[in-house]
Amino acid sequence: MRLLLLLLLLALVAAAGAATPTPAAKPPAAAAAPPPPPDVMAAMSKGGCKAFADLIAASPEASSTYKSAAEGGVTVFCPSDDAVRAFMPRYKNLTADGKASLLLFHAVPVHYSLSSLKSNNGPMNTLATDGAAMNYNFTLQNQGDVVTIKTAASAGSPARVKATVLDKDPVAIYAIDSVVEPVELFKPVPAPAPAPAPVAAADAPKASKAAHRPAPTVADAPGPSASDDAPPEDRKKEAKKSAAAAGAPCVRWLVAVVAAASTLLLA
Ligand SMILES: *[C@@H]1O[C@H](CO)[C@@H](O)[C@H](O)[C@H]1NC(C)=O
Ligand SMILES: *[C@@H]1O[C@H](CO)[C@@H](O)[C@H](O)[C@H]1NC(C)=O
Repeated sequence: MRLLLLLLLLALVAAAGAATPTPAAKPPAAAAAPPPPPDVMAAMSKGGCKAFADLIAASPEASSTYKSAAEGGVTVFCPSDDAVRAFMPRYKNLTADGKASLLLFHAVPVHYSLSSLKSNNGPMNTLATDGAAMNYNFTLQNQGDVVTIKTAASAGSPARVKATVLDKDPVAIYAIDSVVEPVELFKPVPAPAPAPAPVAAADAPKASKAAHRPAPTVADAPGPSASDDAPPEDRKKEAKKSAAAAGAPCVRWLVAVVAAASTLLLA
C-alpha cells in the first residue's frame, strides 16, 4: 500500500515537472526569411558620411523611417562630413520636426543603381514627402557624367554625387558634396516672388508625425515606471516574472499533494 502511494506520488511529481512550461521556449526560426537588408547607418559611417549618420541616429523619427525604408528599397544621398559641418549652424536652427524632415529628405523610397540614376531626370519624392503641402521633392539632373540634386532653394549650387558608398539591392547610398535644402524649410534663393511664408508653415509641428513620436521629455526621463519604454531585455524579464507568477499556484498545489500523501504514508 505504501509502495503504491509512493509510486503514485513520484508519478505526480514527474507529471507536474513535465507540465511546467519551459520559459526559454523559442519560436521556430522562420525558414524562408530573406537576408537582412544592409545596415544603412553603418555603411554611411564607413563611407564618409558619419556626421550625417549620427544626425539620423539622434532623431528617433528619422532613424526608424530609414530602417524600415531599407527593407523596401531606398536610395540615400548622404552629405559628406565636410558638408554637414558647414551646414550645422542652420541645422541647429531647425525644429525637431524640421530636422527629421531634412534628414528624410535626403533619401528616396526606390533603389537606384548608378546607371539607373544616370538615366533619370526630374522631380523625385523623398522619405519626407507627406502629401502636397509637405511635398519635399528635389530635382535630379544629369549634367554630362555628373548626377546633381537641387531644389528651388539651392538652385544656384546643386549638390553633386561624388561617390558610391554602397550599391547592394535594395539599398544604394551615394555621397554628395553639400546638404540639399528643401523649399519647405528654406527660402528659395532668388526670391523675386514673396510667397506666403513657407518657412513658418514648415516650422509648425505636423500633427500626424508628432503623434507617432514619444515626447522627448518622457523618453529622456529616467522615470521608475518606464515599463512601456523599457528595452526588449527588460520586457523579456517582465514576461518571465509574470510567467513565474502564473506557475506559483501549480507549485502550491504540488506541495499540498505531497503533504497529503505524506500524511497517508505516515498513518
Ligand atoms: C536662425 O533662425 C533665425 C530666425 O528665423 C534667423 O534669423 C537666423 O539667421 C537663423 N540662423 C542661421 C544660422 O540660419
Ligand atoms: C515639388 O514641391 C513643390 C513645393 O512643395 C511643389 O510646388 C511642386 O508641385 C512639387 N513637384 C512635384 C512634381 O510634385
